[in-house]
Amino acid sequence: MRARVLSGMRPTGALHLGHYHGALKNWVRLQHEYDSFFFVADWHALTTHYQDRDVIERNVYDMVIDWIAAGLDPDLCTIFIQSRLPEHAELFTLLAMGTPLGWLQRVPSYKDQIEHLKDRDLATYGFLGYPLLQAADILIYKAAYVPVGEDQDAHVELTREVARRFNHLYGQGTGRAVLHEPQALHTEVTRLPGLDGQKMSKSYGNTIEMREEPAQVEAKIRTMPTDPQRVRRSDPGDPARCPVWQFHKVYSDAATQAWASTGCTTAGIGCLDCKQPVIAAILREQQPWRERAEQYLANPKHVHWIVEMGTERARTVARQTMKDVRDVMGLSY
Ligand code: TRP
Ligand code: SF4
Repeated sequence: MRARVLSGMRPTGALHLGHYHGALKNWVRLQHEYDSFFFVADWHALTTHYQDRDVIERNVYDMVIDWIAAGLDPDLCTIFIQSRLPEHAELFTLLAMGTPLGWLQRVPSYKDQIEHLKDRDLATYGFLGYPLLQAADILIYKAAYVPVGEDQDAHVELTREVARRFNHLYGQGTGRAVLHEPQALHTEVTRLPGLDGQKMSKSYGNTIEMREEPAQVEAKIRTMPTDPQRVRRSDPGDPARCPVWQFHKVYSDAATQAWASTGCTTAGIGCLDCKQPVIAAILREQQPWRERAEQYLANPKHVHWIVEMGTERARTVARQTMKDVRDVMGLSY
């Protein structure tokens, strides 16, 4: 049997190129090698967006369409929605009983996010529990690997500690390790910054959506900032100071990169010239996404059906784990 990988994404907005290069592209590859489970983490979205219900509702199936558009194949992987599986909540509750508060307060993303998302009140029980809910997501499928960015390492580490503690508390005597310690899976990811050179993120307003209109994509790249010291066409520039160069590193071959870099430092090309191959490469990349998405947008029932199939497949695994968990905790009455 192939080892299982599991990962999730929060449905808080249309997916952008940062999601694709940072995660999704990797998922598409993994589905060929692993028993792959990918889910919509709608409860996790609620921990921060509990006041905007329609944001999440609007984005759940749209995100699944983005996934399939990018190349996830429902015949190869299992696609489902967290909230359709109350087993996640049951495991979360049971794990919560023995999880020291300090373990959650110590997770670095906890204080960071509260600082970062000042416009939201995150002094909630749900937000503190975010990493434990994530642990339940992972442990309920006995996932071997969790493909995530380094920002999620602390959550996977917490998951390992929670599993160890659970097995210690309840596995004694039975000799059974019911929960499996997962490992984070870092495959080489491409870091594509946003249009302004910061991390690509909807909250910074610097994204290109996966299925953004071509004219819009072109306009965004054409107005993208460049080396601030290259004021006139005749001023030589330095690619190291220019976000467009970061895009060349992701999208251009060696010859195009050499052309852009030499042209920049010698003022041989203008910035609009330099941007043309980037625009063309992004449009080329997006083309098959748009085509694939079209048939699903036209036929929402098909998407629902795919998620239904995935949810039932996930449910079989989740139910079995919960049966084992209840057994060892002495709750099978
Ligand atoms: N916290 C993850 C993120 O923000 C999303 C997530 C929720 C997740 N549950 C998960 C990822 C379980 C991997 C496994 O990206
Ligand atoms: Fe950036 Fe290219 Fe302009 Fe140089 S020529 S500043 S790399 S856009």
